[in-house]
Amino acid sequence: FRSYLSTPPEVYEDIIEQIGKAGLNKPATPNSWVRIIIEKPFGRDLASAKELNQKVLQVFEEKQIYRIDHYLGKDTVQNLLVLRFGNGIFEPLWNRNYVDHVQITAGETLGVERRGGFYETTGALRDMIQSHVLQLTSLVAVEPPAAFDANSVRNEKLKVLQSIRPFNIDMMAQSVVRGQYGAGKIGDKDVPGYRHEQGVAANSHTETFVAAKVLIDNWRWAGVPFYLRTGKRLAKRSTEIVIEFRNAPHMVFRDKGIEPNRLILNIQPDEGISISFGAKRPGTEMNIGNVTMKFSYQEGFGEPTRSAYATLVNDCLRGDATLFDRGDNVEAAWSLVDPILEV
Ligand code: BG6
Repeated sequence: FRSYLSTPPEVYEDIIEQIGKAGLNKPATPNSWVRIIIEKPFGRDLASAKELNQKVLQVFEEKQIYRIDHYLGKDTVQNLLVLRFGNGIFEPLWNRNYVDHVQITAGETLGVERRGGFYETTGALRDMIQSHVLQLTSLVAVEPPAAFDANSVRNEKLKVLQSIRPFNIDMMAQSVVRGQYGAGKIGDKDVPGYRHEQGVAANSHTETFVAAKVLIDNWRWAGVPFYLRTGKRLAKRSTEIVIEFRNAPHMVFRDKGIEPNRLILNIQPDEGISISFGAKRPGTEMNIGNVTMKFSYQEGFGEPTRSAYATLVNDCLRGDATLFDRGDNVEAAWSLVDPILEV
């Protein structure tokens, strides 16, 4: 590495400009290369993301730019593509004919910790929805790419973002909820409310929780709601994706206690996948119990998943940008979030 800079996002543009002026954007020898990794937040709305993209592209070529979103480096997130496109049994069900709705949750028990000042100007929408949660949404909804390479995957993900129905400013209250955590207890420990965190204004309106209903207007997903939610200081730390399936077309066991089938992808902390379905309870009566079949990363492979950043930095060194965002993908995500920010 030539350098690693841990800085607030406001100085990204200046740094990039100076890297250009110092000639550090060009390889020193014909056989070497220069790449730049840029950590999120990549802009704070569509206009600033566009401006930052333009600035970076004045100094680097797109193929040198690695916009990082560490969720894409998580084994469990990459496994979404393997589950869907490496196996034959899931994909036939992965559409509006069989899926009732999708829930994507990124819940944390942590508060803003010592980042109150940063968080005040950010909020959950910018911090989590625009990036991590929309990445998960893209991967659940994406069409099979022609190949598992950077442009094929990013082209398909872009199409998903472009198919998400833009939020209507007049109807926002029907599809988006924002909230802020109050004081409470985590385990036995008393923890302050958001407005009492260090660096946070006593009358702050910054959201620490967002829930949104998203519709994807394409052939695969028309009419299937995707419920996205994220928040800090929630009851448990859990990032998961739940695919809830439609009921059987004719419910002969309607009154026997059957629940919808669910496929649950546990991104963290208990990495794995489970499927729930109805089974006949033992006994003389016909009663149904809802049971689960589970795969755990730890049990299945005998080793924990890897650090997301290790995977991504390694990919960058190898020149593989599949798990990084292209400028147009970042802008598409901002254009979805902008109307919510406006309201
Ligand atoms: C970061 C956010 O990008 O992701 C943090 O800025 C958040 O606010 C974190 O806590 C969550 O990452 P993970 O990997 O712990 O789910």
